[in-house]
This record gives sequence, C-alpha cells and structure tokens, in this order.
Amino acid sequence: MATSHSRLVPPSRGTVTALRKCLMDADYTVDGVTGLLGEVAHRALLRDVSVPGMRALAGHRGPLATLTRLWPLQSGVPLAEAEQALPGLVEPLAAAGLLIRSGEAVRALADVRPYGDDTSDWWVACDLTPGLDGGSRRIGTDHVLGISPASTTLAQLAVRDPVGRALDLGTGCGVQSLHLATHAAEVVATDVNERALAMAAITAALSDVDFELRAGSLYAPVAGEQFDLVVTNPPFVVSPVGGERLVYRDSGLPGDEVVRRIVTGAPSVLAPGGWCQVLANWAHVGGQPWESRIAEWVTGTGCDAWVVQRELLDPAEYAQMWLADAGLAGAPGWAAAYDAWLGWFADQGIEGIGMGWLSLRRTERDEPVVVIEDFPYEIEQPLGVHVRGWGRRVDLLASADDDVMLSARPVRADDVVQETYGPPGAADPERIVLRRQRGVRRARSVDTVVAALVGACDGELTTGQIVDAVAALLDAEAAVLRADTLPILRELVAEGWLDF
Ligand SMILES: C[S@@+](CC[C@H](N)C(=O)[O-])C[C@H]1O[C@@H](n2cnc3c(N)ncnc32)[C@H](O)[C@@H]1O
Repeated sequence: MATSHSRLVPPSRGTVTALRKCLMDADYTVDGVTGLLGEVAHRALLRDVSVPGMRALAGHRGPLATLTRLWPLQSGVPLAEAEQALPGLVEPLAAAGLLIRSGEAVRALADVRPYGDDTSDWWVACDLTPGLDGGSRRIGTDHVLGISPASTTLAQLAVRDPVGRALDLGTGCGVQSLHLATHAAEVVATDVNERALAMAAITAALSDVDFELRAGSLYAPVAGEQFDLVVTNPPFVVSPVGGERLVYRDSGLPGDEVVRRIVTGAPSVLAPGGWCQVLANWAHVGGQPWESRIAEWVTGTGCDAWVVQRELLDPAEYAQMWLADAGLAGAPGWAAAYDAWLGWFADQGIEGIGMGWLSLRRTERDEPVVVIEDFPYEIEQPLGVHVRGWGRRVDLLASADDDVMLSARPVRADDVVQETYGPPGAADPERIVLRRQRGVRRARSVDTVVAALVGACDGELTTGQIVDAVAALLDAEAAVLRADTLPILRELVAEGWLDF
C-alpha cells in the first residue's frame, strides 16, 4: 500500500504573500541556499542525502539556515526558530498542511524549494522528496513530484520564442509554467490531480507569476482553444493498467497510449506554426521498428516532427527502475509485481522501451517533414534554441529548389571540427569525421568533397562555385558533382552543419 499525505488546504493569498516576503528577506534562493550549504552538501542533496548539509549548517543560525533545515534538509527545527524565520506564519502554514508543529518543534509536511533561471528567483511547492537519507520511498498515489531531471530536460528542450498562449499539460508543481510565463503572454496549466493544482497555485503565488490552472485530463480542459506552444512531461510510464496508480507517472492507460493520445491530439490545440513538445517513453513492439510506430502517430497529425530516442531499456531494466521509483525495491510483493510487469510486457510483445522526446510543429505543409532518430550520445542543453533552428531550416529547405541551393552562400556552424583518422604520417586520411561541439553533438563521416564543401562555406562563395572548384581540383565533371552533392547539401543544412 502507498502511504497517504496530509490534506493540503490552499493557504490564503495573504499567507502566501507573507511567506514570499519571508523567503526573499532570508535570501532563501537557489544561490542563497547553495552558498550556505556549499557544493558538496548541495550535490549530496541531489543524491537524496542530507547528512553533509546538516554538517555544513552546524553552528549556523538565522532564517536562511532555519528554512534550509526545514525544507531542503527535511529536518525538525525548534518552534522559536521557525517563528523567527516565518513570523506569524507557522500556524497558518500548519493549517494549510505545509508544516506540522509537534510540541516545541516544527517540521515540513510539503516542500517549498527555491528555483530559478538566469533572471528570476522562484519557489516551487511540491511533496517532500521520498527516500531522503535512505528512508522509505513509499508515497501517496497523488504525490506531487518536485523538480526532477525530466522536468529540467523538458524546460531546456522547450522553444522559448515570445508567444501569445502556452499550455503546460500535467503541470504538477507548476515548474514548466514558471518558464512559460517568461515568454508567453498567457499560460494555461492543467492537471487531473487536485493536489498538484493546489501545489501549482502556491508555486505561482509564491513566485509572483500568473498562470491559469484548470482541472481535467489531456486536452479536455482546453478543447476548442489554440496554443502557440504546448509542453508536457506526462505520466508516461509504460505499464499495465490496474493495481496502484501513482498519478504523477501512471496515466491509467495501457502501455504508451497516453503518449499516442497527446501526439495525435496535438493539432487540435496547436495554432498555425505552434510547437508541441513532449517528453515520452514508448514501447518497441514485436519486431516492428520503433520508428515506424512513432511515425504512424506523427504522420496523422500533419505536423513536422523531430523525434529523438535518447535511451533504450530492456523490459527487465525498465520494470526494475520504476518499481524502485515507487519505493518497492526489497518490499514484500516486489518479486510478484516485477513478475507481473514482465508477464504483461511479454503478452504485449513489448521487447524494449524507448525514452526520449518529440517536438511537433503545425506547419500545414503538403508533405510534413518527419525526422525520427536514435541519438544516445552526449548532448549539450539547452536544446530549445537548436529545436527552433531546426524548424527554421526546415522552412528554408522547403522553399529552396536546386537553383536556390546552388546559389546560396551558406555559413558553416562555428562549432564544427574535423577529425581525421589514419596511420601516423600518412599523406591522406583513411577517414574524415566532422563533429559538432554544441547542441545535438552530431558526428558525420564525410568524403573529401563534403569536407572541402563544409570547409569552404564561409558565406562568401555560393555552393555552386564551391562544388565547381572542387570538381576542377578532382578532375571531375562539375554537373555530376553538383547533382551528387545537392542531396547531401540539403542534409547538411537540415542538420545544422551549414545555414544560410
Ligand atoms: C511527470 S509529472 C510532470 C510534472 C511537471 N509538469 C514537470 O515537468 O515536472 C506528470 C503530471 O501529469 C499529471 N497527469 C496525470 N495524468 C494526467 C492526465 N490524464 N491529464 C493531465 N495531467 C495528468 C500528473 O498529475 C502529474 O502532475
């Protein structure tokens, strides 16, 4: 059985405003807390260990130390110190279910974490991190997850253009909406979990950020509306229906159906030109190439799409990982639950589970551009700027015929390096690899023609002039080399090696 939470009663606006002031006055910010804890203790907390943090705070008194003990370190603090850090707020926050007073000590029942981007200090309300210091990881079915690695991946993947309307589907603690509000005039955040909506409301008020909260499943709360950007980190765990449902990760739909519904439903809420960006897991079923399954979902949308699989787990790895996430590792019933999950995978013909992301864009072209690829290698975040660049170059290529391509004066991306392989001292390399240093750090094996082409693209010469010069050097027929190079040139632009 999962544990259950204290009831969360949204605190009054006045209480949240007063709390915000206390947090700001104490410098309870990302920088303030990290500075107080130090790097070692900060990193330990990211590994769910508070001991180095408690040591770092030994001898420290005052509001910042108290708030850091209370929330990130989840430790009891003396009532007098809590009152000093949160004057007049201990009782109302206890009534709201965020704190509990027991005798002369106060503890947190829910988390209030500092968070931020380059320009803003925010605070996020969510449930306490389970399993701190090796404690139980069992959580309530309506547990509201804090900022997870998946949250930050999505936040960095999102295209951050100034837009009119943005949708945060499955808002949880409200983290995506904080980011959306920095570049969208209007943000709508939805969730099926009332506790999540209550936490997100606290997050919004504490951070002094406006977003509209709506209850409901998938696109139902926004039916008939249009958005320029939809971001979602949905409950994508590929699992059988039935049994305990942790709403932050289990959709209640079988397998990867929730992702299919989000993808196929995207055009119904996307404004022309709008992006829908989804973090997802998907099943590899019965020998069918995973790409073709995803392509079926995407193709029906009429959107351009760039889908990246970052990781592939086998069924046993996957079930084990999520059973541990639910705090079931080593618990009674673990083996039976593991066995049942594997049995369900086998019945469904699921041979692996892919993890990655999808970026769809409603472009309404006759032939949408769909790229579905495996990229398990290191990347550099944030990727949002590269996703936007991909969309722009797809538009460019769609309107460029061969003459335009040959008369373009492309510029090589400034992070391209060339690696050559071969025996030391050899005059000619056996293999040439071009490698990008940023974003999706692609590598591409090329021949001398393509290496020369990319090398010469500095915005001065046209691609036609460059190819003709290479043809002359190699004693090749210019027209033939042009024809052979054109499709590669398009790929080089699509992948961002060259741009114009
Ligand atoms: C993995 S959490 C993501 C939370 C947050 N957006 C983030 O990026 O960290 C998934 C969220 O989706 C919500 N959710 C679950 N089923 C849903 C549904 N059918 N429709 C909308 N939201 C749902 C959960 O309650 C949870 O808050």
